[in-house]
Amino acid sequence: MDRKLILCLFAFLVVNRAEDLASCVACSKIKPIGNTTNGDAKNGQFESQTITELTKLGYYTIKLSLSQKNITSLDRKAFLYLSCLTELDLSGNNIKTIHYDVFQDMTNLKFLNLSGNKIECLHNSTFYHLVNLEVLDLSYNEICDIGENAFASLTNLRKLILSHNNIEMIKNKIPFSDLLNLRELDLSYNQFTVLSTNFIRNLGSLEILNLASNYIIIFSIGDYEFPRIIMLNLSNNSVGFIDVEGLKERFTNESFTIDLNLNKFSCSILERILNDFKKFGIEFALGRHSTSNDHLDNILCVKQRESDIFNIVMGVIFVLVMFGLIYCVDQTVGYGLIKNMFQRCRK
Ligand SMILES: *[C@@H]1O[C@H](CO)[C@@H](O)[C@H](O)[C@H]1NC(C)=O
Ligand SMILES: *[C@@H]1O[C@H](CO)[C@@H](O)[C@H](O)[C@H]1NC(C)=O
Ligand SMILES: *[C@@H]1O[C@H](CO)[C@@H](O)[C@H](O)[C@H]1NC(C)=O
Ligand SMILES: *[C@@H]1O[C@H](CO)[C@@H](O)[C@H](O)[C@H]1NC(C)=O
Ligand SMILES: *[C@@H]1O[C@H](CO)[C@@H](O)[C@H](O)[C@H]1NC(C)=O
Ligand SMILES: *[C@@H]1O[C@H](CO)[C@@H](O)[C@H](O)[C@H]1NC(C)=O
Ligand SMILES: *[C@@H]1O[C@H](CO)[C@@H](O)[C@H](O)[C@H]1NC(C)=O
Repeated sequence: MDRKLILCLFAFLVVNRAEDLASCVACSKIKPIGNTTNGDAKNGQFESQTITELTKLGYYTIKLSLSQKNITSLDRKAFLYLSCLTELDLSGNNIKTIHYDVFQDMTNLKFLNLSGNKIECLHNSTFYHLVNLEVLDLSYNEICDIGENAFASLTNLRKLILSHNNIEMIKNKIPFSDLLNLRELDLSYNQFTVLSTNFIRNLGSLEILNLASNYIIIFSIGDYEFPRIIMLNLSNNSVGFIDVEGLKERFTNESFTIDLNLNKFSCSILERILNDFKKFGIEFALGRHSTSNDHLDNILCVKQRESDIFNIVMGVIFVLVMFGLIYCVDQTVGYGLIKNMFQRCRK
C-alpha cells in the first residue's frame, strides 16, 4: 500500500500506545481500519480495511475519531478486532441505523459519541456488547423509539445523553433498567408531555436528571425515593403545578436542587410553591427572568387578574349566546345579520 496514504490515515486515526496490555490480550491482533480516500467514507459506506503496517509500528488503536466523515452506514464488520478501542467518535455523520453486531468486539470501549446523526430507532441490544461503556452521547439524532432492551448490559454507563431527539414517552417496560451506575441522564429537548418519576426507579446512582425544554404539562412524583439526585432540571416546560410534599419525601438528598424556570405557573401557585420550598428547605435554581414583568424570585409566572378571567369568561358566553340566538331565529337571517354588520363596518 502507498506509504503516503498510510501516513495520511495515521494522522486521521488518533493512535495511542496501549497502556494496559494485560487487560487487553487481544490487542496483538489489532488492525486499524478505515477507507483510504483522505479518511473519508466512500459512497457513505465505512468498511473495515486492514492496514497491517500500523500494527507493525507497535501502536495500538485506542482512540478512533471518525467525526464528520459523511458516513451513512456502518459495515457489520467495520470495527472487527478493535477490542482495544476505548474511545470512538462517530459524531456528525449521517448514520441512520446501527446493526447490533457492529460493536461486537469492543468490550473495552468507554466512550462512544454518536451525536449529530440520523438515528431514528434504538433497537434491542444495539449496545449489548459494550459492557464497559461509560459515556454514550446520542444527542441531536431523530430517536423516537427506544427498544426495551436497547441499553441492556450497560451496567457501567455513567452518562447518557439523549437530548435533542424526538422521544415522546417511556413505555411501560423501561429501557433504563440496567443502568445501575448511571450518574447523569440528559433527556432535554425531547417531546415529553406527561412524565412520572417512576421511569427512573432503577437508576439508584442517578445524580443529575435533565428534562429541560420538553413540553411537560404534568410531572408526577411516583413511589420511589432518589437519595442521590442533586439536580432535577425541569426548566422550559409547561408545568403548572408541582407536588412539593412529594418532592420532599422522594428527593431526599441534602444537596437536591430543582430548576423550575420558564414554566406555566400562575403567580399565586408559584408563590405557594416557593414558600413551601423555603419551609421544607428545598433548594431551587435561581430565577433567570428578572426583566420580565411577572416573576417571583426572578422565576417566570403568569399573573392572572380576576377581572381578566371574568372578562374572558363573559366574552365567551356573550359570543356563544349571540351565535345561538342568531342560529335559532333563522339561519338565513343570522347569516344576513352578520353580512349586514360587516357591510356596515366597511362603510
Ligand atoms: C476504499 O477506497 C478505495 C479507493 O477509493 C477503494 O479502491 C476500495 O475499494 C475501498 N475499500 C473498501 C473496503 O470499500
Ligand atoms: C455525502 O455523501 C453523499 C452520498 O452518500 C453525497 O451526495 C454528498 O455530496 C456527500 N457530502 C459530502 C460533504 O461529502
Ligand atoms: C460528541 O461530539 C459532539 C460533536 O462533535 C460534541 O459537541 C460533544 O461534546 C461530544 N460529546 C461528548 C460527551 O464529548
Ligand atoms: C426486545 O426484547 C424483548 C425481550 O428479550 C422482547 O420481548 C421484545 O419483543 C424485543 N423487541 C424487539 C422490537 O425486538
Ligand atoms: C424551550 O424549549 C423549546 C422546545 O424544546 C425550544 O425550542 C426553545 O429554544 C427553548 N427555550 C429556551 C430558552 O431554552
Ligand atoms: C447526596 O448526593 C451525593 C451525590 O449524588 C452522594 O454522594 C451522597 O451520598 C448523597 N447523600 C445521601 C445522604 O445519600
Ligand atoms: C437547566 O437546563 C437549562 C437548559 O438546558 C440550562 O440553561 C440551565 O442552566 C439548567 N439549570 C441548572 C440549574 O443547571
